[in-house]
Amino acid sequence: MEQTQTKRIVLGITGGIAAYKAAELARLLVKQGISVQVAMTEAACHFITPATMQALTGRPVLVDQWDAADNGMAHIAASRVAEAIVIAPATADFIAKLAHGLADDLLSTMCLARDCPLLVAPAMNKQMWANAATQRNVRQLIADGVQVLGPDSGVQACGEEGMGRMLEAEQLVKDIMDFLRNGKSAGTVSPIPDISVRAHEKEPSQPQTRKLSGKKILITAGPTYEAIDTVRGITNRSSGKMGYAIAQAALEMGAQVTLISGPTAITKPQGAQAVDVQSAAQMFDAVKQHLAGCDIFISVAAVADYRVAHPSAQKIKKGSGNLTLELEPNPDILAYVANLPNPPFCVGFAAESENLAEYAEQKRRAKKLPLLVGNLVQQAIGSDDNELVLFDDSGRQTLPRADKLTLARLLMQRIAQRKKGALQ
Ligand code: CTP
Repeated sequence: MEQTQTKRIVLGITGGIAAYKAAELARLLVKQGISVQVAMTEAACHFITPATMQALTGRPVLVDQWDAADNGMAHIAASRVAEAIVIAPATADFIAKLAHGLADDLLSTMCLARDCPLLVAPAMNKQMWANAATQRNVRQLIADGVQVLGPDSGVQACGEEGMGRMLEAEQLVKDIMDFLRNGKSAGTVSPIPDISVRAHEKEPSQPQTRKLSGKKILITAGPTYEAIDTVRGITNRSSGKMGYAIAQAALEMGAQVTLISGPTAITKPQGAQAVDVQSAAQMFDAVKQHLAGCDIFISVAAVADYRVAHPSAQKIKKGSGNLTLELEPNPDILAYVANLPNPPFCVGFAAESENLAEYAEQKRRAKKLPLLVGNLVQQAIGSDDNELVLFDDSGRQTLPRADKLTLARLLMQRIAQRKKGALQ
């Protein structure tokens, strides 16, 4: 068992269907030697009973702010002896309350009166999560130093699929234990630390610090175009916006950027060395040509997995029957670079239409990447904003919905942070 026996947290449960996962979370935390004081909103009691939570934690559950416990001072007392308050699940409504400092029940009052860090695990329908008001509130929490854990993407209780599922109990325990190890120590009361960087980094203000000064970054962006004949081809709907935004963010941080791009309609960031290509094979050649001395390789391009085996040198004329095209596989550029003997720090992208977490992590492992950035195609392709989920050895973190340049700056900060030691 870990050396955390003396540690205590307040587990706040708010009224969402994911409240059932809080029972498992409490059980696993207790198993880790954590003393768990549960506080529930009235709405949470419609989803799971205080009796269940009391049985799992061995402590009476706090619900009513007018309760005589602690001389009516439970909202103050509970956080004074806690290492942290963890709200799991945190509904959209409760997040809104936290963002605005409302205190109209025991749990929200406790959060406002706390002198310890606050961690929240959002859980809600994907539209509620994507709603501008929720995103604004989440940003406010992050700016206030609150650590936001998740959410995850997947099938939701309502049957829809998307971002908003609460992280699984095992993942939350891992995050909380990491926090307890690295956050304030038992028995001390420290000011609320700026801990937002683990799950969400603060939105960087411009100008960015030139943390990547002198570093060489190679980026692929946009779609590829595989010719069928002289006038037709196979391509995809990637706009190149994300890759170009990343190039821009890297330039702002002082990096020397080479941007290898498939055909796009957007303007190249000033200061980048631009290399235009069409096909995956050309992109592969260009990457190999510019790889020498590269510190970081960021593969944002939507590279065609297949090309036409025998493209026609002349325009193919219409015939009367079916036309069959034979496709052959393209080289996997990112896998090639990541598996070189001394590879640069490789960052991959995964655009998925379903099962984001599962597929993205599979890709990361298959290509041996230290960092993979996932997003849902429905939310990303062609759009001006996006939501990213970062997958690395320590788990996953969400960068909440924002315009692509804001996300690119957050991502580049994250990459610079991870590579700091190795690049110095
Ligand atoms: N990639 C690459 N070369 C390829 C294909 C993909 O460099 N021939 C890179 C992309 O730039 C991206 C990542 O690999 O960073 C995507 O991984 P991949 O598994 O190839 O994704 P998909 O092609 O989308 O795979 P699938 O179609 O099976 O989902």
